[in-house]
Amino acid sequence: KILQQEEGNMTSVVGANQFHTMVEHIERYDELLGQLNQRHQNRPSSTTAHYEKIEVELREHGAEMMAVAEDVVAKERSSVNTMLLMSQRIPLVFLMVLLIVVIYLINFITRQMLQPLNRLMESTRRISEGDFTPITPRRRYRDEFSELAMAMNHMMNQLAYRHDLLARAQKLKAVGTLTAGVAHELNNPINNIMITACMLIEDYQILSDQERLEMAHDLLNQAERARKTVRSLLEFARESEIQTVLLQVKDLIEGTLQLAHNQIKLMNVKIDRHYTSNLPPIHGDRQQLNQVFLNIILNALDAMPEGGTLTVTASHAKEEGFIAIDFSDTGTGIPEHILPSIFDPFFTSKPLGKGTGLGLSVSLGIVQKHGGEIRVKSHVARGSTFTILLPKAKVPAQLQTKEQVQTS
Ligand SMILES: Nc1ncnc2c1ncn2[C@@H]1O[C@H](COP(=O)(O)OP(=O)(O)OP(=O)(O)O)[C@@H](O)[C@H]1O
Ligand SMILES: [Mg+2]
Repeated sequence: KILQQEEGNMTSVVGANQFHTMVEHIERYDELLGQLNQRHQNRPSSTTAHYEKIEVELREHGAEMMAVAEDVVAKERSSVNTMLLMSQRIPLVFLMVLLIVVIYLINFITRQMLQPLNRLMESTRRISEGDFTPITPRRRYRDEFSELAMAMNHMMNQLAYRHDLLARAQKLKAVGTLTAGVAHELNNPINNIMITACMLIEDYQILSDQERLEMAHDLLNQAERARKTVRSLLEFARESEIQTVLLQVKDLIEGTLQLAHNQIKLMNVKIDRHYTSNLPPIHGDRQQLNQVFLNIILNALDAMPEGGTLTVTASHAKEEGFIAIDFSDTGTGIPEHILPSIFDPFFTSKPLGKGTGLGLSVSLGIVQKHGGEIRVKSHVARGSTFTILLPKAKVPAQLQTKEQVQTS
């Protein structure tokens, strides 16, 4: 009965076969005992010989049962041992799994944190170089990093807006500087017009038709000269959308020199030009590049209050794929201790009200936006050279026709 109750447990330890053999042995044992008892009651006179056969069988089954019982104990012991061993190993395995999970989690978290951080760091480097292209979030869902990226985009919008305001302010200041020269230059044609007009009125009767015609032409020429001067200044000062076109460096420089012509004359400065022939065009915005050249020319004029020479050179740069434009003056030069600061916004060595300190900072921003850079070499009392590097436009040679290459 007990065996049948424990059948489940027993079979799991000794196996079904062994269990059944054991049950068979016990049943047989029980049966033999029963027989022995019966014989004893029915025929108490039976001789030992009668009992012997049953006894032998009983012993056999008893021995078999003992063997099975020992086997059961041995098996149980070994299963207890295995369980003990297992119970020792389980924490180890668990620890290993935990370690792997922790390593994976650390790896996952650092990747989740470091990757966006690295991207943001890369973006800040880009922003500090003046590239205000918005950061595009990589993830679809919103997390702290995308919030930060959005905040940085907003900051860049504001920076770009303020940058534009500064550039505009700087341009107007340059226009202000030019006005003195322009006013001076306008005076001449206006004077000429007045003199010629007066002569025409006074001597109208005695002048021949031919002479009158010549004087009228003279008036027209002088008026045209005045209009050209005003127009080039207005064109430079005018607000306009950024327009990237193919430009010839020589035309650009000449246009700017024309703009500053009166100022240059006023300051008693001589211009030396050296243009390498057949320079390829560049891609850029005419007005912005004019502003850069004008800033550098005006700085050079400021550095030569007693007059001097400004040498302008346009050639192939040592750097592959770039054009170098040098503006070399014979002015005061820049002391070494202020050289690292001259491109900083609002840095100026000029008296209050004269310089805003924005010229070079704005110019550098524009040149960098065009994929170029500005370099300076200077010797105190000997002069300075500002070199502007601009990338040559990558266009097939057949496209560089007169129509595409805009001229000033
Ligand atoms: N050719 C030059 N020779 C000597 N110093 C120069 C020259 N160009 C620039 N500098 C120095 O660099 C400083 C900064 O120049 P930047 O053009 O940025 O401002 P600024 O000329 O002082 O002001 P603004 O351009 O608004 O008139 C100048 O104040 C001057 O000290
Ligand atoms: Mg300046």
